[in-house]
This record gives sequence, C-alpha cells and structure tokens, in this order.
Amino acid sequence: MTGPSDVTALDDPVGESLRGHHAHLARRLGGAATYVPGVATFCAVPAEPDAAAWADLAKVLGPGEFADMFSCPAIPPPDWDPVFVLEGRQMIWARDSGPDPSHHEFDRDMVELGAEDVPEMLDLVERTRPGPFWPRTHELGTYLGIREDGALVAMVGERLRPPGWTEISAVCTAPEARGRGHAVRLLRAHIARIVARGERPFLHVAEANSGALALYERLGFETRKHVTFRGFRTP
Ligand SMILES: CC(C)(COP(=O)(O)OP(=O)(O)OC[C@H]1O[C@@H](n2cnc3c(N)ncnc32)[C@H](O)[C@@H]1OP(=O)(O)O)[C@@H](O)C(=O)NCCC(=O)NCCS
Repeated sequence: MTGPSDVTALDDPVGESLRGHHAHLARRLGGAATYVPGVATFCAVPAEPDAAAWADLAKVLGPGEFADMFSCPAIPPPDWDPVFVLEGRQMIWARDSGPDPSHHEFDRDMVELGAEDVPEMLDLVERTRPGPFWPRTHELGTYLGIREDGALVAMVGERLRPPGWTEISAVCTAPEARGRGHAVRLLRAHIARIVARGERPFLHVAEANSGALALYERLGFETRKHVTFRGFRTP
C-alpha cells in the first residue's frame, strides 16, 4: 500500500500512474500497461517481469512499436531492439526548502493551456527539446504557460501521478525568452498547486542537463536516485 508521499510509489512511477490517476488513459494486458496513442509512449511491466509479461506488452503495443520503459530497470528479451539509453536523476521536492507555496501569487500572464494550444505547445517543444511530448500529453495534468505578445514562450506541466505525488515535466522556455524568470515562476506555480492539494512534487532530469539540474536544486528539489531511461522496439 502506498500512502501520501510514500517514496516507494516513485520506484514505478509509470505503473503506479497507469493503475491509478491515469487508468482512464491506459491500455493494458495482464500486468503490462502503456498509455493510449498520442498521450505518452511510457510502458510498465510488473517488477521482475517474466517472458509472459514482455509478451503481453508486445501484444498491447503491436509489432515494431516503440516501448519507452522510462526508468524501469528490467531488460526485455533479446529480440527487442534497444532504441536509446539515457542517464538521469529522479528528484523530489524537499519540504521546508525552496519557495513557500503560501507566498505564491498566480501571475496575470500565466495561462492554463488546453487542446486549442497544442500546436503552439508542440512548436515550443520542437524548439526547446525538454523531453517527450505528444499531441495529447496535456491530458495527463495541468499545463501552465506564459505568453509574450500573444505567443507562447514558456510552459511547465504535470505528467506522472503516482499516489501522493505529481511529476513536473515539459519545463521549457523559448530561446529568445530565457533568463527572464519564466521557468522559475511556472515551476513555483506548479509546486504551490501540487502542495496545496496535499501531494508532493517530483521530477526527472537528464544527468547531462546541468543547467536545469542547478535550477531545480535552487528551487528545493533533491536527488532521490540516479536512474537509467531506456527505450526499445518490440519484435
Ligand atoms: C531550463 C530552462 C527551462 C530555463 O528557462 P528560463 O525561463 O530561462 O529560466 P529562468 O529565467 O527562470 O532562469 C532561472 C535561473 O536558472 C538559470 N538558468 C536557466 N537555464 C540555464 C542553463 N541552461 N544553464 C545555466 N543556468 C541556467 C538562469 O540564469 C536563472 O538564474 P538567475 O535567477 O540567477 O538569473 C530553459 O533553459 C530551457 O528551455 N531549456 C531547454 C529545455 C530543458 O532542458 N528543460 C528541462 C528539462 S528537465
């Protein structure tokens, strides 16, 4: 059982989300699960998966499809082709440090983004590469953005939702709008919203992204563990 802010829920953030908050966005077979197309390519299998679990996942995805295993340490059978390996960190927001959510004011130029904003969100992601983002990813949670002269120049959103936790994701600012505090303001707004509903923020960052890492540490995030992200193609 996982309760509020139980850290064990963070060892399988994809599986916990697909069984819980995101069950309505899941495709599953046996113990294997993934998101519906267009939302995310993240997949989950039971801990210490057997051949049947991998076969179930292959069946859900279909042949020759991309399986983003996220931080799952289990390696699929040899006929699954490796697509990528990326070293990263899972960071959790440490209580009693970083911004005081009670001091947060919802900025006037901060807007909640929805389906009608997807083309601009995809364009911003294309220009900034914060991590995977698809046309329906915004359905995973709340996405907040900042506009300058009407154009979307920064956004931050919510992604995985294991019990008691919300992952902050898609942190990006257009190159021409950087250094104006947009990312910090959006991150603080999300932290405040997540804490206000009794949950705790966490996030993932690539080890090589030293700029983002330093930014998260300044905001009160601490490294919980080092993880390896892996993606494969089904046979
Ligand atoms: C990381 C990113 C979102 C920061 O956006 P931003 O709106 O410019 O950030 P802010 O203006 O709020 O900057 C906050 C602080 O971090 C610093 N900072 C921001 N990006 C940095 C970088 N790449 N390297 C070093 N420092 C950085 C800023 O100098 C600023 O410091 P200051 O407050 O002392 O002036 C932006 O650089 C970006 O879109 N990067 C590409 C996408 C990405 O890697 N996202 C993170 C995925 S985990």
